[in-house]
Amino acid sequence: MAKSGKSWEKRLSGETDDLAINFVESLSYDTRLYRYDIAGSIAHAQMLADQKIISKAEAAEIKKALLEISDKIASGKFKFDLVHEDIHMAVENALIERIGDVGKKLHTGRSRNDQVATDMRLWMRDEIEVLQTKVTLLQKAFVKLAGKYVDDPMPAYTHMQRAQPVSIGAYLLSFVEQLARDNTRLKNCSELLNVSPLGSGAVAGSTLPLDRKNTAKQLGFAGITWNSIDAVSDRDFCAEFIFVCSLIAAHLSKLAEDWIIYTSSEFSFIRTDDKYCTSSSMMPQKRNPDMLELIRGKTGSVYGSLVAMLTILKAQPSTYNRDLQEDKIHIFNAADTVGASLEMSAAIVGNTKFNAKQIAAGLDKGFLEATALAEYLVKKGVPFREAHGIVGGLVAHCEDNNCKLSDLTIDRFKQDCEKIEADVHDTLSPAGVTNQYLTEGSGSPAQVEKQVQYWKNQLKEQ
Ligand code: ARG
Repeated sequence: MAKSGKSWEKRLSGETDDLAINFVESLSYDTRLYRYDIAGSIAHAQMLADQKIISKAEAAEIKKALLEISDKIASGKFKFDLVHEDIHMAVENALIERIGDVGKKLHTGRSRNDQVATDMRLWMRDEIEVLQTKVTLLQKAFVKLAGKYVDDPMPAYTHMQRAQPVSIGAYLLSFVEQLARDNTRLKNCSELLNVSPLGSGAVAGSTLPLDRKNTAKQLGFAGITWNSIDAVSDRDFCAEFIFVCSLIAAHLSKLAEDWIIYTSSEFSFIRTDDKYCTSSSMMPQKRNPDMLELIRGKTGSVYGSLVAMLTILKAQPSTYNRDLQEDKIHIFNAADTVGASLEMSAAIVGNTKFNAKQIAAGLDKGFLEATALAEYLVKKGVPFREAHGIVGGLVAHCEDNNCKLSDLTIDRFKQDCEKIEADVHDTLSPAGVTNQYLTEGSGSPAQVEKQVQYWKNQLKEQ
């Protein structure tokens, strides 16, 4: 049994069971909100003084003590006691311990319900900026690498089967594009959440003349929430944030999967730096891509947080319920996991080499130029469906005779299609094919060159 020093001790008989104290606490994970909690409290105290609910001197005393508490927490000297349940009560208790009765005025017109909702929005606004920076750094690493392999072709796969040749740069830029959407989603999320719930109280607001726009302005919010009942329960921003993190994790897991395959002896497309590999405790030859595997694996934990968050919200009755306390576990997990994976990915991308020569040497397998050949026929006036059939027949013939399309003579081509001429051979090399892509956003070196320049300019300002 523990003595908590809480104001509701007068309401409840006896003391809280230790089991309950340990069960109900969030202090073990919400201390990381302390800076935001204190910023919110300072703004609240200032507003109370502006509204003449407390005196200016009292607000100043509260502010000074809160800043001291903040320093103490930052230096690691603050002694947290689980009996205080959460960061909000821990800070308020420390304040009252320091300045006595004046400290007891801070919580005027406020509830932990609007307080925690405010803290989380403030935390997330900052965390989103951190993640955006990490996304940008990863994009820059991709653009730099893409710039080195503009003219080098590689096979693009669909269904994990060889499909068409593309510039290696185009493959790398595909990740830059995905990450750009991720950053837009983070921005949108930040804009949506940037309203202040402070002053909504427990659920219904307050009979005191609180100035909500005052605190919102002090805390840099773009506006205030307009319904106190919704404001104390709204965790849409948490679900949305974790969803955005989940998509980032999905993109990183795709990269990880590609590169785990690419590092295998069978592929040997890339060599990641030894710094980011481990070996086997038993097999001396091993060079394992554990970092990539962990990036892939950690995606599971982020998705887990998304499902957990949505499930916490499911069928909760209106307004604040203690279920919501669990939200923090999942937003923190999603942010930390994705933040670490983004950093690791940027380090790996920045230290990887493509075996461009070896990749080029293997491009004659898999009939990568078949689609370009069909389009060659279209240019000669053959309807595409027919061209598709003709090339399919030629591929089957090559397969039967264990040769490549480029090995066929013009006479052999003409047997299947009169319209094929000597210039067909320009189409029959992977590098030749990539150079012929005309469409915007295609895998041609010319397009990649343009896109690399575009992204360099675009990312320079960030
Ligand atoms: N630790 C709580 C949370 O994270 C703070 C709000 C508690 N409010 C309450 N009325 N019990 O949600």
